[in-house]
Amino acid sequence: MDVLLGAQWGDEGKGKVVDVVAPDYEVIARFQGGPNAGHTLLFEGTKHVLHTIPSGVFREGTINLVGNGVVVDPVIFLKEVRSLEAVGVDLRGTLLLSRRAHLILPTHRALDAASEAEKGKMKIGSTLKGIGPTYMDKTGRNGLRVGDLFQADLKERYSALVRKHERLLSLYEHSGASAEAEAEWLDAVEQLKAFQAVDCEHYLDQALRSGKRVLAEGAQGTLLDIDFGTYPYVTSSSTICAGACTGLGIAPNRIGKVTGIFKAYCTRVGSGPFPTELHDETGERIRQAGHEFGSTTGRPRRCGWLDLPALRYAVMVNGITELAMMKADVLNGMDTLKVCTHYLVNGERTERMPYDVSVGIEPVYQEIPGWKAANAAGDIPDALNRYIALVEEAVGVPVTILSLGPDRAETIMRKVPDLA
Ligand code: GDP
Ligand code: IMO
Ligand code: MG
Repeated sequence: MDVLLGAQWGDEGKGKVVDVVAPDYEVIARFQGGPNAGHTLLFEGTKHVLHTIPSGVFREGTINLVGNGVVVDPVIFLKEVRSLEAVGVDLRGTLLLSRRAHLILPTHRALDAASEAEKGKMKIGSTLKGIGPTYMDKTGRNGLRVGDLFQADLKERYSALVRKHERLLSLYEHSGASAEAEAEWLDAVEQLKAFQAVDCEHYLDQALRSGKRVLAEGAQGTLLDIDFGTYPYVTSSSTICAGACTGLGIAPNRIGKVTGIFKAYCTRVGSGPFPTELHDETGERIRQAGHEFGSTTGRPRRCGWLDLPALRYAVMVNGITELAMMKADVLNGMDTLKVCTHYLVNGERTERMPYDVSVGIEPVYQEIPGWKAANAAGDIPDALNRYIALVEEAVGVPVTILSLGPDRAETIMRKVPDLA
């Protein structure tokens, strides 16, 4: 099984690359996150944004599996299904859900909002989709799972969990979920039963034994990982490669290629430290040229220069074997680019990602000439080739995919250079 994941703070372009490489795989499996994700695909002039459903759905014959590590909001899931059906995507028999995937309740969303309001200025800037509270109920051993939908005592268990949430919400002095939201949820879970629920660990084991190729699709990015991200400004799941093992039930020794997706610069949405953030015109220029506004929430994304210590860290914790550089076209026309090669932490040089990225950290930049225009149809400008070579040398992994536009077709597969 190969793994594809984000090497920065999310929104690197994972959806696009999964869609591009999906014809090489029989199964695409999402391993964590939930509707906090927004994966954008563009082809034949139409843009599609996926939240819970894997990005292989537009490739005929591909099985798309929502793994046990994912948290599913039945209402959002069904809306996604309906909008795919409306454009002629047939999901019958090809979209599978793990029985062990946890369900997001309307009161999880209310708890997310209450927690964020309570934190005030210190808020995480979550997507308010109920992600944190749902994973808390998972690890707290209170959660409801897809497999529970088929049990006779579902309603009682649902009510008991809602009562518990309401007690918590009253401590926060925050309102609960509306009666309409609860009714919509109960209706959605009934419809969810029509989808095939599987034991994803067994399903994937069988698929791999019969020679099928499986791609695990990550959501968010390494620096939002619950353990290795910029805690507490992170999401609540394991976004790293190990998360593909626990989020699908696949043993580590079955992992092959690990592709890390990164932008030629950096972005972050929500709160939290971001060493190379630009608060000036250059940051604004990147935001406008890259349309850096959230696919899920529409919030403007914070923009900054490429951060090599952070990318090196992502390569290390994920075992990344190949990189995809995205959105290099967004930097077209900039005379000079900057790349952070190391940090000064309290005046001392380090090439490592420190424990605390929020204080006393100063990024040190190397300047490198930019390129005028790069697009997938023409030759790659020398300056862009030098930029790529700089990254490859700094992190020790080849850039095998170069993306120069949002469309499926605007993608260049590069030959693996010898970095030895
Ligand atoms: P994901 O969450 O990692 O799948 O990424 P998002 O879809 O949230 O954000 C990536 C955005 O960049 C989307 O709007 C894509 O259409 C767009 N995009 C992807 N690759 C490229 C590229 O190479 N160039 C440009 N200009 N846009 C891209
Ligand atoms: P994709 O898969 C970028 C960010 C939120 C917030 C933090 C916690 O599209 O790359 P959460 O709702 O998960 O509790 O929010 O994580 N965040 C993302 N940022 N891309 C995403 O997903 C994200 N999913 C969550 O903005 O800072
Ligand atoms: Mg996204």
